[in-house]
Amino acid sequence: MTETAKEPKQKFSASYAKDAVYQQGLRDFLEYRDLGIADATHGQFRAHVIRVKEDQKGGDHDMHTTGAHQHMVDFQMFYVLKGWITFLYEDQPGVKKFTAGDCVLQPAEIKHNEISCSDDLEILEIYSPAVHETHAVDEIPGHAVAAE
Ligand SMILES: [Fe+2]
Repeated sequence: MTETAKEPKQKFSASYAKDAVYQQGLRDFLEYRDLGIADATHGQFRAHVIRVKEDQKGGDHDMHTTGAHQHMVDFQMFYVLKGWITFLYEDQPGVKKFTAGDCVLQPAEIKHNEISCSDDLEILEIYSPAVHETHAVDEIPGHAVAAE
């Protein structure tokens, strides 16, 4: 990555809070604020802020699950800005709960499932490459039953 991260030349980029726009993304119940990194790095990385859509707040947290899946990335991390979120991870025991200030590296292609999140969840996620596939998986190794 170090040899290729500078080519082609990265563009200077600033994403101002006052101009923030949230759009539809991978998950129906979430919305995503792209921070301009994918364009500035010619697709090598993406950074976005993710939150729950206003009309999806309240009620049953089960609707916030994503199903077992894996992202075909080289790198993925997130930092919780606000609220909380729970996951199951391949070969990691138990349910992991992350709250504001927590930071997670999800090793490339790890199988996982988001179980639930708070209505006020906000996370900053950074991954590479910007465009990649996400695959649904039948099970998460290390867990008897992949949660729905
Ligand atoms: Fe995921």
